[in-house]
Amino acid sequence: MAQEIMQVSPLPPFMMKALQEAEFIVHDHTHIKDPGALSKVTALIGTGASKVDKKLLTMLPSVKLVAICGVGYDGIDVAVCKEKGIVVTHTPNVLTDDVADLAIGLLLSIGRRIPQADKFVRNGDWVDGEFPLVNKISGARIGIVGMGRIGRAIAKRAAAFDMQISYTCREAKTDIPYAFHKTAPQLAADVDYLVVAVPGGDETKNLIGASVLHALGSKGYLINVARGSVVDQPVLVQILKDKKIAGAALDVFWDEPVIDPELRRLQNVVLTPHIASATEETRRAMAKLTLENLQAFYERRQLPSPVPECTM
Ligand code: 8YV
Repeated sequence: MAQEIMQVSPLPPFMMKALQEAEFIVHDHTHIKDPGALSKVTALIGTGASKVDKKLLTMLPSVKLVAICGVGYDGIDVAVCKEKGIVVTHTPNVLTDDVADLAIGLLLSIGRRIPQADKFVRNGDWVDGEFPLVNKISGARIGIVGMGRIGRAIAKRAAAFDMQISYTCREAKTDIPYAFHKTAPQLAADVDYLVVAVPGGDETKNLIGASVLHALGSKGYLINVARGSVVDQPVLVQILKDKKIAGAALDVFWDEPVIDPELRRLQNVVLTPHIASATEETRRAMAKLTLENLQAFYERRQLPSPVPECTM
């Protein structure tokens, strides 16, 4: 029997195709109106951007799985899911390399001012003089906020640039040689590049605020490949305007895809449209793992990648 599922975010075409080939009936939650249809939906499928709250789950009494195509699931009310006996799955590991690659790409871009240098050549400014000198990245100090899978992959890449690596997270890790700082302001005070790689959600909301940014100082750069919510964005914009930090490279934002015009006008930023996992290979691997979670759920097999809260 074909299973009825509901998408809670737009899904890539190759994923829709795979779902249809696997004979799932995919409803779109923005179009579904018929209460009879609502009760037939047994699983939700979404992305890192999806919001699944109590209100939505109460309208869908038969849902027993929320399958997220993304590693972050901060938009999902996992506590309510657990209360209702709903399991949440996500797609860790398969996107780690891409996110770490982009973090380093952003670090190089803002530190060496690559987009600004590109504009300088295109605008014909070169004939009037040399592009201003910047600071060297190899050997510089990088601080990583969050030492999970992605933090570790960023550190591995930074090591290849001979960077001095330090980090902060809940507790010092015993299996890595990098310097540990108890708090984000302490870490920020000690580095040239502060890279954010923690999960989103209430626990990390505005973790990077005035005290961290002031500690980073006028020669320091912020790089965020995590979630917009981790950085206090209005504070960051003001600090960038006042040149209290050297610059920021951001892949994630508050209210994305709508970006604060003040942020867009700044010259000391590099902005990318939440593309950290956006390669053909990785998005296909994420879709495959999501489908495997769905299939395992309906075939009553062990789920390949439930979120940690759902394995306890
Ligand atoms: C994408 C992400 O936004 O994995 C995450 O948590 O934020 C990204 O990979 C998204 O989930 C793609 O479907």
